[in-house]
Amino acid sequence: MTKRVLITSALPYANGPIHFGHISGAYLPADCFARYQRLKGADVLYLCGSDEHGVAITLSAEMAGRTPKQHIDIYHELIKDLFSKVNISFDHYSRTTWEQHAETTKQFFFDLLENGYIEERVTDQLFSEADNRFLADRYVVGTCPKCKFEAARGDECTSCGASYEATDLINPRSKLTNAPLSKKATKHWFLLFDKFKEQLQKWIKAKEWKPNVINFVSHYIDDLKPRAITRDSDWGIPVPLDGAEGKVFYVWFDAPIGYISAAKEWAEKKGDPDAWKPFWLDESTKLVNFIGKDNIPFHAIFFPAMVMGQNQPYKLVDDLPANEFLNLEGKQFSKSSGWTIDLEHFFKHFTADQIRYTMAANAPETSDSEFSWKDFQTRCNSELLGKYGNLANRTLTFLKRLDSKVPPQHELRSADKEFLENIKRLEGEISLSYASYHLRRASNLVMELCQLGNVYFDSKKPWKLIKDPKCQDELETTLNLCLYCLKVLALVSSPILPEAAQKLWVMLGQQGELAQLRWNTIIEEPMEPKTPLPQPEILFTKIEDPIIEEQLAKLKELSQAKDLPQIKELISFEDFGKIDLRIASIISAEKVKKSKKLLKIEVDLGSEKRTVVSGISEHYEPEDLVGKQVILVANLKPAKLMGIESQGMILAAHEGKMLKLPMVEGLAPGSSVS
Ligand code: MF3
Ligand code: ZN
Repeated sequence: MTKRVLITSALPYANGPIHFGHISGAYLPADCFARYQRLKGADVLYLCGSDEHGVAITLSAEMAGRTPKQHIDIYHELIKDLFSKVNISFDHYSRTTWEQHAETTKQFFFDLLENGYIEERVTDQLFSEADNRFLADRYVVGTCPKCKFEAARGDECTSCGASYEATDLINPRSKLTNAPLSKKATKHWFLLFDKFKEQLQKWIKAKEWKPNVINFVSHYIDDLKPRAITRDSDWGIPVPLDGAEGKVFYVWFDAPIGYISAAKEWAEKKGDPDAWKPFWLDESTKLVNFIGKDNIPFHAIFFPAMVMGQNQPYKLVDDLPANEFLNLEGKQFSKSSGWTIDLEHFFKHFTADQIRYTMAANAPETSDSEFSWKDFQTRCNSELLGKYGNLANRTLTFLKRLDSKVPPQHELRSADKEFLENIKRLEGEISLSYASYHLRRASNLVMELCQLGNVYFDSKKPWKLIKDPKCQDELETTLNLCLYCLKVLALVSSPILPEAAQKLWVMLGQQGELAQLRWNTIIEEPMEPKTPLPQPEILFTKIEDPIIEEQLAKLKELSQAKDLPQIKELISFEDFGKIDLRIASIISAEKVKKSKKLLKIEVDLGSEKRTVVSGISEHYEPEDLVGKQVILVANLKPAKLMGIESQGMILAAHEGKMLKLPMVEGLAPGSSVS
């Protein structure tokens, strides 16, 4: 019976471009696994899609000045396009705004409600007086109640991975304005996760997942609490009950259901609406969720509990390969601080195979790992070109001297037998590595196979054998086996290097699409003598130093542009002494008419009163400033702003778009600051 495998990669939020850090964790490993399983003859369905609800979307849409719908439409296409550039072989890429997704979500909700796992509760949630709305999840920042990380999000901590209620945060503030938030009562629906404690514990016990996952999860299950699965928002799937106006499902309630609805959409699109059923409803299917480590609680606890509590016989996850993070040159990838790789630019210079191989070789399987440009260059030049390309090139170029046809195999000597045994051994180990999600090991073994071939070629010295007619048989056998080694190499490398492997496949005189063929058949069949070999092509090109230097310079440039401003050149104490800084008490403040930014402020300088015009209107309300003491540059030449003479300048601190006035308390106006 054919094995059925359902593979998913975490649905990326359609709120910004994805980067190689994401790809190396949840996408490339899944893609290699899917490609491997297809070669092994399994019935594979590999699914993903855009995660389009929730605050991750509304917040970034708001910041970009778009509606959520405009925002997701842009990023859904962009992300999909990037996945195809990296050759991720999804069978279907869906989106959670697909209408049927809402239907499946409602089925979960109604089942859970009827089965007594959902309760309506009125609780305090975080409310922003300034915006007159409830803020949740990513709109909220605060200190993590578990690890005390100060920039934790409203629903999860990016530092320790904890997931909690926003009201559990210490010192919660608005992400938009940094203003403290107050609590206000509102009605929500809570999923009683604590009722699944025993069932989950039993289920987890039988799993052979990575120790870090098991460990994390077991602690978590011990103190499971009811969690709100709805939010006050107008973006998301509306809660389908009377009296639930303005309430939508929490994104982590609907998103994982997207794995199911994506399968339904796939089936519908291919004109066989029931085709999804064996994958989701048949117990014998193997379900594998590829995720980054930050998604563990949702895939190992919350979603399984939801599946347990509803009425359809949907599968529970079997394997959960959760990867750590890939960093870039020693720091986390970060679009906002410019610490990233411009992917448009990347694919102008490099190929998908080159980045796939580098990410596979550095897969963050057991700890965070690194992408560095120098390592990328070395892997591409010394390994892909120097070992893989070299073996193909030297063998096929040599064969031009034998009419470019596959030579026959004659009697095997001990070195030949040993070579074949080693090929077989490596093939077996590579297969096992793919099957057990050890992508890093698989890529190392692929290089070992190249080296095995190169060493054999060197030791046989075909360039000498060809000169001696007595050695004709040995020469032919040598080259036949080298070709077989290349054929195995094309096969076993193809999950990681789909383009190069297919090229090599054609260069070996083989027919059809390698990806459509079967692993075991390819291994079993020796090279067919007399098969014509087409003109060999270049598999990999060399990456020269200047181009890597250019990338490093670009990274520096991008990140500096976004980082803190550079420190200005040195000045003498005398220079500094020319600036007369004084404590000024604000007597009154008012908005300057027709100006968005300016406030007209009267200050007391002790010996005199002054009028100052200051560009802080978007950050302070005039009435909040009265009575405050700020620092004034008292000897700045007056300047006219919107027709008002400003007699000095109030010091302000900036961080990006944020602005704060340094203030003091209890000093006499006019006191000097130095
Ligand atoms: N969008 C989430 C993230 O990027 C992942 C969602 S995975 C799913 O962290 F299971 F919910 F689909
Ligand atoms: Zn934490």
